[in-house]
This record gives sequence, C-alpha cells and structure tokens, in this order.
Amino acid sequence: MRDKIVAGNWKMNNDLAETEELLGKLKLQMVKDPEATVMVAPSFTNLYPTFQALKGTPVIVAAQNMHENDKGAYTGEVSAAMLKSVGVTTVILGHSERRAYFNENGEILAKKVNAAIDNEMTVIFCFGEELEDRKSGKHFDLVETQLREALFNLPQSAWKNIILAYEPVWAIGTGETASPEQAQEMHKHIRNLLEKNVGKEVASNTSILYGGSVKPNNAKEIFAKEDVDGGLIGGASLNAVDFVQIVNSF
Ligand code: PGA
Repeated sequence: MRDKIVAGNWKMNNDLAETEELLGKLKLQMVKDPEATVMVAPSFTNLYPTFQALKGTPVIVAAQNMHENDKGAYTGEVSAAMLKSVGVTTVILGHSERRAYFNENGEILAKKVNAAIDNEMTVIFCFGEELEDRKSGKHFDLVETQLREALFNLPQSAWKNIILAYEPVWAIGTGETASPEQAQEMHKHIRNLLEKNVGKEVASNTSILYGGSVKPNNAKEIFAKEDVDGGLIGGASLNAVDFVQIVNSF
C-alpha cells in the first residue's frame, strides 16, 4: 500500500516571524490524524524552528534542496548530515526551479539522490516537462529520461525512501493545472516505467504526487485519480486554511 501525501513547498517565502505565524495557523487548522501524510518544506533558515514547532504533530519537515557532498569547501551549501542534525530527514530534489535557475541536471541530481539515500533520507524527487515538450509530444519521453538519469540506477532497497512528484513546468505557479485526466495519463505512464525498470512491487508501492497550481477547488478531482497519490503544493501551501483543505481532499 502506498501512502497518500500532501507536501507544502514554501519556496523562498516567509521570514522567521512569518513562518511562526503560518505554523500557528497550521496547528489550529490541522485535524489530529489526517488521512494523508503531511509535509512542509520551509527555507533552510526556518527548518529548525519549524521542526521544533511541529514536534508532537504528525507533520514532517522537509528541506527544499541539499548538496551532494558530506562536507567541505562548498560555500553556501548545506549537507544531508546538517539537515539531519536539525531533525530533517526528508528533502525535495530536482524541483523545476532548481533545474531552471541553478542548472541542476540529471547528473547532479543523481549525485544528490545518492547522497540522500546514503544518509537514509527520504527524497521527494520532482520532474516534469515544459510546455514546448508537451506541444511537440515529447513529454512522455522527457519524463522517462529525467527518471532514468537520476533514479533508475538505484538499488531496489532505496525505493522505499523515494516519493515522486510529477510537476509539469507549465502548471507551476501559473494558475494553470494539468486536467485530472492529463495527470492520470502521465502518472500511469510513470508507474508503467517503474514497473518496467525497477519492478512491480516498487511500481505499486511508490507514491506519485502531482504538483502545479493545486488549489482547494481542484485538489479533490486530481487526488481522486487512480495513480495520483497526493500533491506537492506551492502557492496554496502558504495559506493554512487552503493547505489544510487540500490535505483533507482525499
Ligand atoms: P504551485 O507550485 O502550487 O504554486 O504551482 C508547485 C510547486 O512548485 O511545487
């Protein structure tokens, strides 16, 4: 059985005071035992206060990125060990904004994923096509390449720590979502790829999240699709009422 998961990616939003305010509201809104596993990913500076504030709740704190090396002369970077030392054992890798603005490609992401797995962390691995790829009918192949480059060399045992997040770039922060049918079509394709390249068990046990303008008014329809196991939420996760409504959309 795979988990239903809703993860909020707060991106580069909220200073400490704003984070504390959002966390306060989130704790008020959140039902005690949500059906889905809930995660939030604040900026690096807010990871520890968020971890502290959410202690005793079921909400998991995730980082938005990490470096592939354990330590050393990598000015400005943060390692898996550093994340773990502040209670963070989940990390988002491969977000399209990291790929677009920070030149993260398949090769770098494979190293980051390996480092996370070596450190026994859980990875939310993001991937997805640009509008051009979809228009030219290359989206299925592109997604296959993104998965192959970073994940298909992993040992079977690593897959219990991998969550996939399909995020078509054209739907991120644009207000435009993939239709539930488009999401299902791609998620089915992804699950078939997992079955072919990793195995049946991994294919049926891996959670595949959809991301891209998920809002309270469309979450239910998207999450109802057979191969959609939840969502990675950007904009709407900054509003506690909206986020909790999305969490409760199964
Ligand atoms: P969005 O972002 O919900 O604001 O479209 C999704 C994401 O980037 O993960």
